[in-house]
Amino acid sequence: MKRTKIIDIFNPELVGSTVEVMGWVRTRRGNKHVQFVALNDGSTIKNIQIVFDMERFSDDELRAITTGAAIHVTGKLVESMGKGQSVEIQAEKLKVFGTADPETYPLQKKGHTLEFLREKAHLRPRTNTFGAILRVRSTLAYAIHRFFQERGFFYLNTPLITASDCEGAGAMFQVTTLDLNNLPRTEDGKVDFSADFFGKPTALTVSGQLEGELGATALGAIYTFGPTFRAENSNTPRHLSEFWMIEPEMAFYDITDNMDLAEDFIKYCVNYALDHCRDDIDFLSQMYDKDLVDRLKFVVEHDFVRLTYTEGVEILRNSGKKFEFPVDWGTDLQSEHERYLVEEHFKRPVILTDYPKEIKAFYMKQNDDGRTVRAMDVLFPQIGEIIGGSEREADYDKLLTRIEELGIPMKDMWWYLDTRRYGSVPHAGFGLGFERLVLFVTGMTNIRDVIPFPRTPNNAEF
Ligand code: 4AD
Ligand code: MG
Repeated sequence: MKRTKIIDIFNPELVGSTVEVMGWVRTRRGNKHVQFVALNDGSTIKNIQIVFDMERFSDDELRAITTGAAIHVTGKLVESMGKGQSVEIQAEKLKVFGTADPETYPLQKKGHTLEFLREKAHLRPRTNTFGAILRVRSTLAYAIHRFFQERGFFYLNTPLITASDCEGAGAMFQVTTLDLNNLPRTEDGKVDFSADFFGKPTALTVSGQLEGELGATALGAIYTFGPTFRAENSNTPRHLSEFWMIEPEMAFYDITDNMDLAEDFIKYCVNYALDHCRDDIDFLSQMYDKDLVDRLKFVVEHDFVRLTYTEGVEILRNSGKKFEFPVDWGTDLQSEHERYLVEEHFKRPVILTDYPKEIKAFYMKQNDDGRTVRAMDVLFPQIGEIIGGSEREADYDKLLTRIEELGIPMKDMWWYLDTRRYGSVPHAGFGLGFERLVLFVTGMTNIRDVIPFPRTPNNAEF
């Protein structure tokens, strides 16, 4: 196949040669002498202009070229006289792969709203906006692997089906093969899970962290990167029921090492996207958010502010600002509080540490004050929490006491406790919500627009 991808066609060395391109028609315009087609093949935000001299082609041949049709064009690449493009193709041969009926094809050339496109998630990757977002998403995924692999971290695949609830949030999707209309019962009337596929209750994972700790305490440093499921009924622009999470876990790291890694990691990813997706980011910036590029550069160039939860609460209480939810030491911060600290008070990313133990998970290292744990949340402009992590409790007795206090069933946790029984080490890790990173880098405002097929309460289309 002699096909040239459109991303490679703007190479000046190709001018004068015969090229073959394949793609989907974005628009066609012109008159009875000449017709212009804008063609896109997904490799870049840029279209290539194809010029059809109507002495060579018949009206009948061109009639099939409507918005959305897939075509194969052979022709000469020449410098363009028109404005808006450097080169164009003078068509010599045309083959239509597939037509797109203008009466029914939903993506006509006028700009569609993001809401409309969510209903058309099967076709929206063919729009400029979603092409750009999906290319940025793919590039960020690659940057993430690069970052960790360059630093000697190993990619560990943790299970998606699990019998343990890492975050203790209790918002898990159950996995079962039992017939829900005819459940087997035990003598006391409960569902008999011994008859289920795995012989016990199982669910989709909310985090790979606990298994990640097993990897870190053997390989030294690992990261996971996979789908994560949460059945919380939160219908917000920042929550998905199925999202992707990156969870590095490192032996011999304390909370400061953990914060340093998190900061380097995000900066690396943002910088990588700026270097490798500039056309797409510039397009999104122009369409949706004029400040996007400045905001991305700002994050890369400035230190994140680090302070404790207690200090953060003080600032919020002294801010004189009326929040919807009151701020009290001991309560979890709401998105409005996080965004106040980041966007109004410090005007840069913030890492909050040492949260009250009651609002954080059982595995976090307990501070000597008896009230706080070595948690860290990274808070970002526009997003709020982008990373959650902690140094882990390495002391067997303290961890066991906390597990008992919280009433976590011991029979589920024996394997996890073994990491503290045998060769226990200080260790730490964090989780980055991949879609929240993509949100930040693309400047989009709804998380449903940065994953190809979003799953949210009452929505599992496509
Ligand atoms: O703060 P979370 O719940 O932390 C954990 O799961 C830890 N086990 C991570 C660790 O220490 N290894 O989730 C981590 C991140 C959040 O900061 C957020 O970016 C993202 O995951 N996240 C979600 N993203 C989209 N939709 C949701 N429903 C999310 N819940 C969390
Ligand atoms: Mg969190």
